[in-house]
Amino acid sequence: MVLNILEKAKRKEELCVEEIEALLSITDPEELQALFDCAYFIKEQYVGKIAYFRGLIECSNLCMKDCYYCGIRKSNKNVDRFQMDEEEIFKEAMWAFEAEYGSCVIQSGERQDKAYIEMIERVVKRIYEATNKEMGITLSLGEQSEEVYRRWRQAGASRYLLRIETTNPELYAKIHPADHSMEERMECLRRLRRTGYQVGTGVMMGLPGQTMRDLANDVVFLKTIDIDMVGMGPYIPHSDTPMGQEIPPYTDAQKKAALTLGLKMIAVTRIVLKDINIAAATALQALEYTGREQGLKCGANVIMPNLTETEYRPKYQLYDNKPCTDENSAMCRGCLSGRIKGIGETIGFKERGDSPHYRKRTKN
Ligand code: 5AD
Ligand code: FES
Repeated sequence: MVLNILEKAKRKEELCVEEIEALLSITDPEELQALFDCAYFIKEQYVGKIAYFRGLIECSNLCMKDCYYCGIRKSNKNVDRFQMDEEEIFKEAMWAFEAEYGSCVIQSGERQDKAYIEMIERVVKRIYEATNKEMGITLSLGEQSEEVYRRWRQAGASRYLLRIETTNPELYAKIHPADHSMEERMECLRRLRRTGYQVGTGVMMGLPGQTMRDLANDVVFLKTIDIDMVGMGPYIPHSDTPMGQEIPPYTDAQKKAALTLGLKMIAVTRIVLKDINIAAATALQALEYTGREQGLKCGANVIMPNLTETEYRPKYQLYDNKPCTDENSAMCRGCLSGRIKGIGETIGFKERGDSPHYRKRTKN
């Protein structure tokens, strides 16, 4: 049954939600390998064996949201809050440019105040101009108004990441406070499309109560909204959050299961969406040291080396055991370069690495 579905996928026939669910439900090791091989086959055909680096700048852990799973939620009093200034963000982005990364990602907790919006606008403009408009600038700064998205786009940002987290409305309501609206999140994704970004979204896998059918529906959703980029990762409990307090830290067996589920979702997303960019999330590496390379072997083609100053890293803990908190930008560059060569892929240095899907979509 599973092998038939994979054959169908290789012939580029469309899969229905039941077939996607069947692939996500694989447990047999041989079938699992066949799934990963099929995803890698499709990855090679559509995006090649090139991994693109996106230098990640986690510029602030201040957040007005209170998601029950996230370590930097506003009610977590154990977080030492920080905010990089414009100069610090600019410096890190320039480090990435000089290190030949094709793009950088500016990420933070959610803030919608005027001072913050203007600071981001200024720094994006500076990075864009200082890199001769060559470096891709991605933002991951949460829900904003259409006007704000437009201003940042005009300043020079070309991509935006905003995870939907889950497309099951009941599950969304369980993992967020009542005033966090899934419909608003959906509307933001539409705004981002309207304002001309390459749009990325994604979900968390392995949430309490989440079923394989939920995840299959998530993949169908990604396809339906015609997304350009996907960033998704396994849910990992954080001990200072309401959800994390209900679940004891993962055992080794639970870590393995969470990693496998994360890899299956990457593989299935590659098989179904084909020519998009898919990131191997850092959370994969929190579960196993080689988690991110395994992500590339299962269909991901983007990796996000951390650029954040070492001093700030321990303060940006979305989940427990986040890797690379003692390292610096140069160490992550060297380490990840070695890992990628180790699996026989090349790194797309100096290339923006736009998603082929986006290029096709905007040509017509
Ligand atoms: N485990 C895994 N991922 C998490 N995120 C937040 N908290 C966790 C967690 N405990 C993810 C969310 C968010 C992204 C920035 O980090 O998907 O969108
Ligand atoms: Fe940061 Fe290996 S990726 S040290």
